[in-house]
Amino acid sequence: MATLIDRMCLQLVLVLSIYLGMTQAVDRTNFKTCQQSAFCSRQRALRPGQSSYRALLDTLELSDSRLTLQLLNNNKVRLLLELYRLQGNITRVKINELKPIKPRYEVPDVLITEPQTEPMSVVAQDERGVVLSLGGEDRRLYVNAQPFRLDIMEGQVLLLSINSQGLLAFEHLRLRKDTISHKITSTVASMWDKIKTVFSSSKDQTDPEEAGRTEDTQRNNEDEETEVDQPGMWEETFKSHADTKPNGPSSISLDFSLPGVEHVYGLPEHADSLQLKNTDGGDPYRLYNLDVFQYELSNPMALYGAVPVLISHNTHRTMGLFWLNTAETWVDISSRQDPAQVPQTDVRWISESGIIDVFLMLGPKPADVFSQYASLTGTQAFPPLSSLAYHQSRWNYNNQEDVASVDRGFDEHDIPYDFIWLDIEHTDGKRYFTWDKKNFPQPKDMLQGLMDKRRKMVTIVDPHIKVDSSFKIHSEIRSKGFYIKNKDGGDYEGWCWPGNAGYPDFTNPEMRSWWSSMFAYDQYEGSMENLYTWNDMNEPSVFNGPEVTMHKDALHGPWEHRDLHNLYGLYVQMATAEGQIRRSGGLERPFVLSRSFFAGSQRYGAVWTGDNAAEWGHLKVSIPMCLSLSLVGISFCGADVGGFFKTPGTELLVRWYQAGAYQPFFRSHAHLDTPRREPWLFGPDNMALIREAVRQRYALLPYWYLQFYHAHRTGQPVMRALWVEYPHDVSTFSIDDEYLIGRDLLVHPVTDERSTGVNVYLPGDGEVWYDVHTFQRHEGAQNLHIPVTMSTIPVFQRGGSIICRKNRVRRSSSCMENDPFTLYVALDPQGNAEGELYIDDGHTFKHETDRQFIQRRLRFTANTLSSSDLSPDSQFPTASWVEKVFILGAQKPKGVTLTTGGAVSSVEFEFDPVTAVVTLRKPDVNAGVDWTIQLQ
Ligand SMILES: *[C@@H]1O[C@H](CO)[C@@H](O)[C@H](O)[C@H]1NC(C)=O
Repeated sequence: MATLIDRMCLQLVLVLSIYLGMTQAVDRTNFKTCQQSAFCSRQRALRPGQSSYRALLDTLELSDSRLTLQLLNNNKVRLLLELYRLQGNITRVKINELKPIKPRYEVPDVLITEPQTEPMSVVAQDERGVVLSLGGEDRRLYVNAQPFRLDIMEGQVLLLSINSQGLLAFEHLRLRKDTISHKITSTVASMWDKIKTVFSSSKDQTDPEEAGRTEDTQRNNEDEETEVDQPGMWEETFKSHADTKPNGPSSISLDFSLPGVEHVYGLPEHADSLQLKNTDGGDPYRLYNLDVFQYELSNPMALYGAVPVLISHNTHRTMGLFWLNTAETWVDISSRQDPAQVPQTDVRWISESGIIDVFLMLGPKPADVFSQYASLTGTQAFPPLSSLAYHQSRWNYNNQEDVASVDRGFDEHDIPYDFIWLDIEHTDGKRYFTWDKKNFPQPKDMLQGLMDKRRKMVTIVDPHIKVDSSFKIHSEIRSKGFYIKNKDGGDYEGWCWPGNAGYPDFTNPEMRSWWSSMFAYDQYEGSMENLYTWNDMNEPSVFNGPEVTMHKDALHGPWEHRDLHNLYGLYVQMATAEGQIRRSGGLERPFVLSRSFFAGSQRYGAVWTGDNAAEWGHLKVSIPMCLSLSLVGISFCGADVGGFFKTPGTELLVRWYQAGAYQPFFRSHAHLDTPRREPWLFGPDNMALIREAVRQRYALLPYWYLQFYHAHRTGQPVMRALWVEYPHDVSTFSIDDEYLIGRDLLVHPVTDERSTGVNVYLPGDGEVWYDVHTFQRHEGAQNLHIPVTMSTIPVFQRGGSIICRKNRVRRSSSCMENDPFTLYVALDPQGNAEGELYIDDGHTFKHETDRQFIQRRLRFTANTLSSSDLSPDSQFPTASWVEKVFILGAQKPKGVTLTTGGAVSSVEFEFDPVTAVVTLRKPDVNAGVDWTIQLQ
């Protein structure tokens, strides 16, 4: 026994020493290449050519909104093709085995609802195929029978083709030939019986047709005689880890061709450029949620999260492909850029298991694709206003006194902050939901101290649970049978921060509900309403597992971990966010940060780019990484300011604060081994620069909050690549070192050492942009060299917009609640501008449940600035008022009058002829009422 424990401890020390920074960069040998992944290398060996599949037209069935057809190739295993026309220019294509020997995994809980279908009709049919009408502007779907191929046309234009490269490949489930595995299969089969009810209630599930099953099994066995097993089909080994595959090979693959397309984006998470690159010469982009230690830049290796959505864009059309599959997935991109030919991009998806279920989002505009995707997976959760402010974190703040002294430091240096974070060391021996008794003996006193200053705290709650019978969380999960099981049916255990740990099965709704209940104030002892949560390590990270994650043959009820790996992190965040909502009786909006994510994670909170490093390249890549997430619905994104690993020089740290202040999630964080990094530790000058960056963030909170309100309501991203707003301007298509926040602010962070200037592209022919620091006006559609000093980064406001700020410096965002607004009216060349103001309580769901909010339109036209109600059936009392207005690009008025509630008064003003700015002082009108200000 003792020797076993010794060995386990030694192993842990080894694993931890690898993890804690003995090496300088990612150890690539810990992670598979496509070649080292049996299914990927099998699939990739199949080259483009004529598809062996044909559609059996005599099996065609068309109901109002669903067309089905069987597909067959020479292995004689029939596939069922289902086609749906969905509301809002979306086509859904599903391919599954017609009669699999057991059901294949269909991803639950990602779509917000069963998508609404619309009628389809057959336009033409002969022995070559079928033509269906998809409505719209003469949009049609061509089903070519032999070889099987799908084409979507709009008028004479081919939008996309499926299987035109002939890469449809579907490895059908089969029984093992030897007897041992028959036994394994029968255990699995008995588990199937238990969940039969789940299946019979699932709408889209192909009827298993019990009667036909034996026959099919025989048929499968016969086929296998003719099919030759390849290495890795029934088991494979990576390093010392064996992966058993009781059902053998099960991978799927399909290709999509996009004629006329040279630019594709999406497929996060990768530390790479926004525009996806050709994968011809190297590995495909990999989607497999992994805890990658010290990740490298500019490569397609998998990281912590995965969103299998690809966005294509050209000057005519933006489209999206959403490949709904949660197994390990690889995506090949091949662009043809022969000037003599029409450009084309071919995309090939390969997944290890599950079914083919793909949503073709046909646009045509970027905004349409965002709404289409939002109609499937939901929109960004509307975060509490305070979570958009500044977060101070490190691994770790050591004790309550440390927390109190950092908190005081912010006050002493007049730097606002809203959240202080505690990493894993705050717990009692990495037992989440507990506190270290020596260092955090009175957590409620600590939280109360923060609450008195209207500040908040986040503690980490990870999904690996210390195996310790005296730990309540563990013993309850074990006794309820809520742990993930290993392939032999025992509780799965792996090494993580607490040592030996179990992993709760978050795919089980009962488990999730129990987990949520653990956030109740009487369960999570020491918690209070200003305590929020951080879910880390939820890929899940297993230090001694294959590729630092869970064995694929671990079991979630009847499903293998293989089937749903990429969904685990989403479920952890979902259950945690639900816990915060429930502890407040359904009243308060949650705030949960997650490292791992999948399509739909936007509904549950924020994500960050994981364990980056204090290097200029990591600062630079934070922009495309968050832009990429924004394109696929996840707006609340940020990167650790300063870099997690290593120690930033002061210049890098200052530049990172300046950049982070203009990214959606704004948190500084640092590794345990790094020197302390609180903003005042770098001398008064650097402190002042950091303070200024943080203050700029606070001043813009009303604008950030408005953007998140819109993201929540409409699915439009907060952080936008330039091409999203300027889709016809090809010079924007590859830009990923600058971006827009909403439509109206353009930001170009400084990401190079000793920069004296940056090259900025200002888009928009006929538009103008104003430097927010100097009010200098620039024409759009030009490249500009903008000199920079250390004091700030280039930010521009679009001519034609009105932005509201709160300029008074406070301790935290909550302290700014009743502060006045300053309006920045940036005139377009025609002398017009428009904007919005949104106000609510900042933290409850009452904006939704009781329509308690103010939404106003601000408009400047014909020398008159007015505020009118955009939502007359909602209301919210506000004490805030308009204290100042800047009108940029204006002419000198003779006088200015304010009209509100029937009363007319004159307003003080100044005019600066150099900058052409009119400043209105003290209009002093309540922000929630109608008013007009007239310039004579
Ligand atoms: C659908 O497409 C048509 C034309 O391609 C476009 O006019 C319409 O706005 C789109 N509708 C949606 C909801 O995206």
